Amino acid sequence: ADFDGLGDVRGKRVLVRSDLNVPLDGARITDDGRVRASVPTIQALAEAGARVVVVAHLGRPKGEPDPRFSLAPVAERLGELLGRPVAFATDTVGEGAVSTVDALGDGEVAVLENVRFNPGETSKDDEERAAFAGELARLADAFVSDGFGVVHRKQASVYDVALRLPHAMGGLVSREIDVLRRLTVDPERPYAVVLGGSKVSDKLGVIDHLLGKADVLLIGGGMVFTFLAAQGHEVGASLLEEDQLETCRGYLARAEESGVRIVLPTDIVVDTEFPSGDREPQPRVVPADQIPADSLGLDIGPDSGAAFAEVIRGARTVFWNGPMGVFETPAFAEGTRAVAEALTQVDGLSVVGGGDSAAAVRSLGFDESAFGHISTGGGASLEFLEGKELPGIAVLER
Ligand code: 3PG
Repeated sequence: ADFDGLGDVRGKRVLVRSDLNVPLDGARITDDGRVRASVPTIQALAEAGARVVVVAHLGRPKGEPDPRFSLAPVAERLGELLGRPVAFATDTVGEGAVSTVDALGDGEVAVLENVRFNPGETSKDDEERAAFAGELARLADAFVSDGFGVVHRKQASVYDVALRLPHAMGGLVSREIDVLRRLTVDPERPYAVVLGGSKVSDKLGVIDHLLGKADVLLIGGGMVFTFLAAQGHEVGASLLEEDQLETCRGYLARAEESGVRIVLPTDIVVDTEFPSGDREPQPRVVPADQIPADSLGLDIGPDSGAAFAEVIRGARTVFWNGPMGVFETPAFAEGTRAVAEALTQVDGLSVVGGGDSAAAVRSLGFDESAFGHISTGGGASLEFLEGKELPGIAVLER
């Protein structure tokens, strides 16, 4: 069988870069969305008779083996989902990897240990990265890039290895790009973007870019308190990025000039402590401009949730990245639920981007098929929307 320009892959060793970076609680996977999204490409290659070698990262270990970041539990889950045995190599390019790959028969699958256990993977030094990519390339005859969540990283297993092997774009990456392109090229209007998550500083590029593109920007999550503070409100003990106040003021002013609506919450759910297992939460709803000094904002309030939902339902294109509150705690999940619910009611294209928002949608029990698209990429989808060149995509198009 021909696999996307790689020719007949039967008997060939095909290195697949997947994004298997899932949240773990010890060795338990708390959201396996990325593993499930990686299955179709791996399954298709196995069915075509390839000897599939999966390379992926987990978390951000410091370039050396660290058992807390082992991919072993993820490899096991992959095997369950594929319904076929998955071999696991206890290193990425060493003897373990070589013997595991040598032992593969046609149509069999192996997962290599966390690629970030090797300093060459994320090195800023081109030669060091290239040397490590050379070691990865020796394990395979061809490369398939399918880890959409990492295509914005110029790393050995994403970028450099593609320079060394015949390569193809996996189905997951191409599907993601097709959908995200619809957001950047002539989106149907109104075009609403919902941003949340903890930090403004993670979203600067995308806000900057969207101020010229979207019709309305809805802001919640931890990052909203820097906006509220920029408007002169007291935010109590809420998350605040002092060094971004000026930037947020600039965004508010630019939005006004350019006719883009920025919608901020008018009420906030607060508590006197960040939720922990030891204490029953004591949520209180307060006006967004009256957050008590001893309290911190943990979710957008019910009025804001309803107002956000109305704007979202009225849009024809919606992109959402970042939860509205600490959704892992039910007392602070309603804002995120209201936004998610509204996205399922959009008459048009609704896209959930990002590891956290995608995990939120699943953990709140929504049916994934009710959304237009749930992206597996967090940073990658934001950078795509910003119009940045993604190294892991550019290298395939060379
Ligand atoms: C993600 O979680 O967004 C991707 O897996 C990339 O991970 P990274 O931000 O650690 O590179």
